[in-house]
Amino acid sequence: MLVTERTNEVQIMSIRYVEGIVPDQEALVALYSANGWSSAKKPIQLAAALGNSDHLIVAYEGDRLVGLANAISDGHLVVYYPHLLVEPETQGKGVGLALMTRMLKKYKHVHQHMLTAVADAVGFYKRVGFEKAGTTIPMWIYEGGDT
Ligand SMILES: CC(C)(COP(=O)(O)OP(=O)(O)OC[C@H]1O[C@@H](n2cnc3c(N)ncnc32)[C@H](O)[C@@H]1OP(=O)(O)O)[C@@H](O)C(=O)NCCC(=O)NCCS
Repeated sequence: MLVTERTNEVQIMSIRYVEGIVPDQEALVALYSANGWSSAKKPIQLAAALGNSDHLIVAYEGDRLVGLANAISDGHLVVYYPHLLVEPETQGKGVGLALMTRMLKKYKHVHQHMLTAVADAVGFYKRVGFEKAGTTIPMWIYEGGDT
């Protein structure tokens, strides 16, 4: 349970974390659209991609999907974290940290953990232990613009 203090109130936020179950497409589109992510325009592929992930963790407040993280991996040497997002109203309340901590625990035996960070999220990923990937340069073939 998380407790966040505002000026004259104490708001109690109870978050439930669920592993391995893909949310319905409507909830996915709402979460991805709220963050302006291009995958929201491909809901069928998005749900299929999350279902095919090596691991998926989603966060609910009540029945509302408020966060999601997935991983693809060979199970031994490399794990890649394609998606981590928290709905804007819920950001800054520890949900991203909880999702990523669970992922890092699951893959703690893996040699290399990779992701592509948007500039605004670099501080968050440093907070959970990532650093710039040496002298390597991320490269892609991508239909989605920057998100
Ligand atoms: C980035 C994101 C996943 C972080 O999740 P969150 O729930 O907002 O972050 P948390 O509240 O769990 O923050 C955990 C810690 O990271 C810090 N942090 C969070 N976002 C940060 C940022 N952008 N820069 C620096 N530090 C940040 C918090 O201050 C907190 O530190 P503390 O534990 O020392 O107090 C979330 O803001 C988000 O969904 N952003 C939009 C989508 C996105 O950019 N995803 C990443 C794509 S690469």
